[in-house]
Amino acid sequence: MKATNNTTSTLAMLAVLAGSVGVLSGCRGDRSDAPPRQFFPNMDDSPKWKPQTGSTFFADKRTMRPTPANAVAFGRTSAVSDEAWNKPWAEQRVAFLREGEAEFSGTNGVNADGTPRYIDRIPIEVTADLIKLGQTKFNIYCSACHGYDGVGKGMVGQAWSYGLPNFHDAKYKDAAQYTGKDGYIFHVARYGVITQGQQKMPGYAHALNEKQAWAVVAYFRTLQESRSVPMDDASIPETERAALKEKMMQATSPAPAAPAPAAPAAPQGTPQATPQGGAK
Ligand code: HEC
Repeated sequence: MKATNNTTSTLAMLAVLAGSVGVLSGCRGDRSDAPPRQFFPNMDDSPKWKPQTGSTFFADKRTMRPTPANAVAFGRTSAVSDEAWNKPWAEQRVAFLREGEAEFSGTNGVNADGTPRYIDRIPIEVTADLIKLGQTKFNIYCSACHGYDGVGKGMVGQAWSYGLPNFHDAKYKDAAQYTGKDGYIFHVARYGVITQGQQKMPGYAHALNEKQAWAVVAYFRTLQESRSVPMDDASIPETERAALKEKMMQATSPAPAAPAPAAPAAPQGTPQATPQGGAK
């Protein structure tokens, strides 16, 4: 009969339901003296020493270890160590910091709207050595993204989440715009680029002290200059010109007017600050 059928299936459903509730809640409330199961025991019980606790390993029983002799701290070493090896560094830095705001931060006060007033020109003496230092630092810290030639096609730059600028664009040469001022390039080298809360370029203040950052700016200008000096410019020594022409002939670049790294126009007699590698 129909009514009986219905009753039977309802009872069957209830039985299944009760069964599954029983299975699901079966472990609840059970007590056990066995240790809890650890699926990744090394994550629960990793061997470690906590700060300020005693050590059974080191003879002096100190868990927090003193800095080993001659260790070079990462970052602003020159400010922290008074050991002999650091002396010239420390003196140089102290002398440098005494110079003032321009040398230290690349600014000269603030504009009417409160934005930093970046200085137009590198405030320290630009020598061939400074440019060479800048080349070394640029190739280490900047080329990965910006490329050895500053065009923006470095290996990391090509895969970076934000687009890379071309340092040879007019906006980075025009001192009437803030992007063309040496003080701004200095600032970017040390603090990176943050726009709308996004750190688009990391800063390198941890790696470049003030002098090194100015050196990078000097090399940045040299890179720009290397593309704007004509081959017959009087500032290029005759011997260098021949070598450059040869390099140009060897280059298998599709564009005949391909960037031939040229000697910087100033200072006179600057050794070749040739970008190594260059854009592919
Ligand atoms: C990890 C990649 C990366 C490295 C390394 C890097 N940059 Fe950049 N840089 C960027 C990106 C991305 C931008 C574009 C940011 C934006 O969208 O405005 C940029 C922009 C710039 C700009 C133009 C800023 C502007 O306002 O237009 C300058 C100048 C610059 N970088 C200099 C440097 C120097 C100097 C170094 C080395 C000390 C360096 N960069 C290292 C990624 C990098």
